[in-house]
Amino acid sequence: MNTENLKKIAAEKATENIESGMIVGLGTGSTVYYALLKLGEMIREGLDIVGIPTSAGTEEIAIAQQIPLTTLASSPTIDLTIDGADEVDAHLNLIKGGGAALVREKIIANASKRILIVVDESKVSRVLGTTFPLPVEIVRFGWESTQTKVNRICGRSTLRLTTQNGNQQSLITDNGNYILDCHFDGIPEPEKIELQLNNIPGVVENGIFVNRADKIIIGTPSGIRYME
Ligand code: A5P
Repeated sequence: MNTENLKKIAAEKATENIESGMIVGLGTGSTVYYALLKLGEMIREGLDIVGIPTSAGTEEIAIAQQIPLTTLASSPTIDLTIDGADEVDAHLNLIKGGGAALVREKIIANASKRILIVVDESKVSRVLGTTFPLPVEIVRFGWESTQTKVNRICGRSTLRLTTQNGNQQSLITDNGNYILDCHFDGIPEPEKIELQLNNIPGVVENGIFVNRADKIIIGTPSGIRYME
């Protein structure tokens, strides 16, 4: 099985937890994409749910799949969220934000009664920050100064770039901010680093998610594995 198949089996497995009447948090990324497709199919077969997307990209896919949407303002409590992750440790701590949606993902996670994380097995790691740089969303004003402060914690970070019409430019998030990708030599105390980074003026949020996931659904070549 290739990675796409591993993502697909994990994401589709997560949708088995969705029942009519639920408010569902819709995560972002190439793994959750398969859950969105499956949800669209389930809705066409009669499932009655409403979703709250974690990014403009997910909103677009949800609309194309005819998934009815609502907002946190009208539905402040989410029954179940399905989201992806960039790195997962054995304590169910996560690094998220590879798709630049970490701020909305953390807000949605905070409003959710239950969170299922869907990944392929390459995302599982012994210590966070060893296989994926930590995304940190920062406001544009004075960003170089914010980066200097962030670097005191992680050592080195790079401003995330994107290519548009053949030109490289700084990536702007759905919230109008920049992303720094922070290169740690491992994050053995994620809870501490999450708080330290968020204490820097100019930092909006970072991609460390501690004690938030209820279950990790992992696609492996021999089938689904769980961590909970
Ligand atoms: C979006 O900002 C991220 O948190 C994604 O959930 C994460 O990057 C996983 O994405 P993939 O499923 O595409 O690897």
